[in-house]
Order: sequence, then C-alpha cells, then structure tokens
Amino acid sequence: MKKASDVMDKTKQIVKKHGGEKSALIAVLQDIQGEFNYLPKEALTAAGKQMGIPASRIYEVATFYNAFSLKPRGEHIVKVCMGTACHVRGASAIQDKMERTLCIKPGETTADQKFSLETVNCVGACALGPVVVIDTEYHGQVTMAKVDKIIGKLKEGAQQS
Ligand code: FES
Repeated sequence: MKKASDVMDKTKQIVKKHGGEKSALIAVLQDIQGEFNYLPKEALTAAGKQMGIPASRIYEVATFYNAFSLKPRGEHIVKVCMGTACHVRGASAIQDKMERTLCIKPGETTADQKFSLETVNCVGACALGPVVVIDTEYHGQVTMAKVDKIIGKLKEGAQQS
C-alpha cells in the first residue's frame, strides 16, 4: 500500500499533466486508477482541491462508471464473463474454479493484493466462450486446466517481481 503523501504527489502530477482543467476529470480519474488500480480517497481529495471540483461531484463521477473502483483492487483483475453465450458453455464452472483457485468470491481481492475477481456480462468475444479477461488479455475456450495454467503463470510472475 502506498503512503498518503506518495498518492498525493502522484495525483498532483496527473492533474498537472491534464492542465488542471475541470473538463479533464474523467481522464484524470482514469490515470489515477491506472496508477493505483483503484481510486484512493486521498487522491480524490487532492485532485478535487487542485481542480476546484467539489468532492461530491468527483464521487458522483467515480461511482457512475463501472470501470472505476473506490476499493483497493489487486495487481491483476480477473473477469469471468457470465454473458449468455459463455454461460451455456460452462462459465459457471469456470467461475467456481476461479473462486477455488484464488480463494476469493467475485468482488473480492486476495490478501496479498495480487488478484481481484469480478464477473462481467459479455465482453464481446462470444465465439470464444467461455471467456476470461485478465487485465487486458482475453483468454478464450477456458477449461479447468487452463485456469490453473493461467493463474499459475501469473503467480510465478508475481513472485519474481
Ligand atoms: S457472452 Fe461472454 S463474450 Fe459474449
């Protein structure tokens, strides 16, 4: 977890990069989330002050878009598609397997902050179902064995860093 002063310094740089314009709020929030993987409270307060936007407005925007998270999320965001096409191809079993592999439920983050699990509705790759999206990478025709393989690889990568 980053120190509050680091969060504030980084936020200031992000706001500055966008010229401090009120109209750049969404871009600023996207960059803050890109930096911390969620929107820390200190960052929202600092951005609001710097941009002259009331906290209520910032929270309104931050909660309106599903892409933003106010809760800390893991280094890797695992999204299991539960749309109809993936569902008929066994997405529920994949979700169960993912829950057992990561030991968390959808909406939760592992204790080591490495993974967050989410379910989504159709990521637009129905022909590849069941689909799991990890960060920005799409994995199609996911099987139980493939879950072990993908997560195992990421865990190994996590240990090396
Ligand atoms: S239903 Fe899963 S990608 Fe469309």
